[in-house]
Amino acid sequence: MTQKKAVALIVAAGSGSRMGGDVPKQFRPIAGKAVLAHAVDALISHPAIDAVRVVVGDGQQEMARKALGSRPVGELIVGGNERADSVRAGLNDIEADIVLVHDAARPFCRHDVIDRLLGALEHAEGAVPVLPLADTLARAGETLGDPVDRQGLVRVQTPQAFHYGSLFEAYAQWNGPSPTDESTVLRAAGREVAVVEGDPMLEKLTNAADWERAEHWQRARLVPRTGMGFDVHAFSGEGPVMIGGISIPHERGLAGHSDADVVLHAITDALLGTAALGDIGSHFPPSDQQWKGADSCIFLAHAAQLLREAGGTIDFVDCTVICEAPKVGPHRDAMRSRVAEILAIPRGSVSIKATTTERLGFTGRREGIAAQAVASVRMPPSGWPPEGLD
Ligand code: CTP
Ligand code: MG
Repeated sequence: MTQKKAVALIVAAGSGSRMGGDVPKQFRPIAGKAVLAHAVDALISHPAIDAVRVVVGDGQQEMARKALGSRPVGELIVGGNERADSVRAGLNDIEADIVLVHDAARPFCRHDVIDRLLGALEHAEGAVPVLPLADTLARAGETLGDPVDRQGLVRVQTPQAFHYGSLFEAYAQWNGPSPTDESTVLRAAGREVAVVEGDPMLEKLTNAADWERAEHWQRARLVPRTGMGFDVHAFSGEGPVMIGGISIPHERGLAGHSDADVVLHAITDALLGTAALGDIGSHFPPSDQQWKGADSCIFLAHAAQLLREAGGTIDFVDCTVICEAPKVGPHRDAMRSRVAEILAIPRGSVSIKATTTERLGFTGRREGIAAQAVASVRMPPSGWPPEGLD
C-alpha cells in the first residue's frame, strides 16, 4: 500500500477583532516569533505530516510572508469572510489523503496530540482533540440563570484530522449557517467523529488576557543557546583596516574577498552557530562576485534577521580581537555601538576585547588579525531548525 499523504491546513485569514491591535493576532510575535510561525513549526516538525499550507485573507499576503520567513509552505491560499470559507478555499487547493485543519490562533500544538489524532483516523473518518470543562456552567443574562449540567460536555479544539475525501464531501453537502469547526460539518453528513485527549497548550488566543498568558508561558520556556565564531584575515597592501564596522587608520590593510572585517565575520558565525544555520561562507560564498568588497554589516544583519525569523532573541555578543596592532582600545566603544546598531540590540549587550599573542604566532609576527566571538541567544523550545526542516 502506498503511504497516505497528510497535509496540515492552517487557517490564518481572520482579522483578530476580539484581540484588537493594528496587526491581526496571527502575524504578531509571541516571545519573538510570529503566532503563525509557531503554528507552522509545530506541525511541519511532525514526521507524519508531509506538507503544511496556509490560508490568509486577501491583502494579508505581505504580513503573512514576513511572519513565515523561509518556511516551506508553498503558495499562500486566499481565504474568505468566515472561517469556514477559508477552510473551503484551503480544501479546494490541496491534494491529500489526510487533512489536519488547524487554527493559526492555536500556535502551540504538541506532537502527542497529532499522534493521537492520526491514530484515531485508523478507525474513524474524523478525529478531534477535546478537553473536559472544569468550571460550573450556567446561563446568564444580567443575573445568573439556570445551571447547565456539564456532565458529558467537552471543549473541542484544533487541529482536527479527517480523511480528506470525507471532509470535502461533507462540506459540499453542508447547507447550514457558517460552522465554527469541521467536526460539526462531518457529523452533519452522518459520519462519526472520534475524540482524543486535547491539550491546554492548544487554547485559542482570542482576547488580550489569552495573549498575555501565552507570552508569559513562552518567555519562560525560551531555551538559551550559545554559538562561537572565529575568523582570520592577513595583512596586505595599504590601510586603513575595517574592524567591528569601523575604519581604523593603519599602515597595512587586510586582504579578503569582502571588506575583510574579522570582527563582524566572527560575530556573524557565532550568531549563525546558535541556530545551526551553517557559516558565513554558506550564505555568502566567496566565489560569488557580488560579495567582492562587500560591507560586512550586510552579513551580520542577515544572520540577525535569520535568527529573528526563527524566533531567537539575541541576548549578548562578546568578541576578542587578536593582534599586535592597530590598537583596538581607542575604538572599542565605536565598534560596540556599530555592532549594536546592526543587530538592533542595546550597546550594553555587545562587548569587544583585544589581546596580543606576545609576539608569538602569525598575529605576533603582525601577519594578520584574528577574532573570536561568542553569542548568546534565547530560542523558543520548538527551536530552529525544527526537526522536519533540518
Ligand atoms: N479565520 C480564517 N478566516 C476567517 C476567519 C478566521 O482563516 N474568515 C481563522 C483565524 O485566523 C484563526 C481561526 O480561524 O486562526 C480561528 O478564528 P478566530 O479565533 O475567531 O480568529 P479571528 O476571526 O481572526 O478573530 P475574531 O473572531 O476575534 O475577529
Ligand atoms: Mg473569528
